[in-house]
Amino acid sequence: MATSPLGLRLLQGAAPSDPATGVDAFLAGDRFRPPANIAAERADDGWRGAVKTQQELKREVAAAALRFVQPGKVLGVGTGSTVDLFIDALAAAKLDVTKAVSSSERSTAKLAAIGVEVLDLNDVEDLPVYIDGADEIDPGFHMIKGGGAALTREKIIAAVATTFVCIADASKRVGMLGRFPLPVEVIPMARAHVARELVRLGGQPLWREGTVTDNGNVVLDVHGLSIPDPVATEARIDRIVGVVTNGLFATRGADVLLLGESDGVRELRR
Ligand code: 5RP
Repeated sequence: MATSPLGLRLLQGAAPSDPATGVDAFLAGDRFRPPANIAAERADDGWRGAVKTQQELKREVAAAALRFVQPGKVLGVGTGSTVDLFIDALAAAKLDVTKAVSSSERSTAKLAAIGVEVLDLNDVEDLPVYIDGADEIDPGFHMIKGGGAALTREKIIAAVATTFVCIADASKRVGMLGRFPLPVEVIPMARAHVARELVRLGGQPLWREGTVTDNGNVVLDVHGLSIPDPVATEARIDRIVGVVTNGLFATRGADVLLLGESDGVRELRR
């Protein structure tokens, strides 16, 4: 496998189940995020026989996250299809949640629609819980996030929160991060410069054309990386001038993982 001087490795067929990662227990029944086709909408446990759709698994982890909600406290709410289902579950459960902080305009609109007031994070001192999804999560609870382009606000809220609860269907669990293209939010005038630097690190950045983040920036999705040292890679990419945030949540990973599997929701702690 080719390795760049900075430790970013091109995948070249390597799978996250590489024994070098030593994550057999976490991966038992290793599976990757399925491609977007109808067959891949099925999340198959491989041996127990039961089959649930990815949407069903997302709905189950979303509902399971309700037990982490602290009544009367401000709640941190992330972004994405799993979080959308969490907000639906929150509305149906009629818990005492009247105030939240949100990582995107999308979630803000959804929260407002169910009567939850969305506060400015600057006005919040105590944020016990942040609930959000992930695109990939590894055995150390490092994540790739930003598939929904909300990575910067997500990372800021995660930094403030005491407990980060990640809600994910089983396809998000990997041995090593990097199969999902790593989103990088970039100041628009720096797009070409940052792309060249990412190529120097061994990646293949693609501009997510047509996407403008809630902060008015653009997103580069970096393909072809495997990331054996997520903390180092997160820091290295952040040092490129023009990068606002990268989608590695390694320095501040998740504390709790609710993983939706065919036979139920598994709760794992770091
Ligand atoms: C948005 C994110 C999401 O948490 C991530 O993309 C997972 O999304 P989904 O729940 O739709 O699979 O980081 O920026």
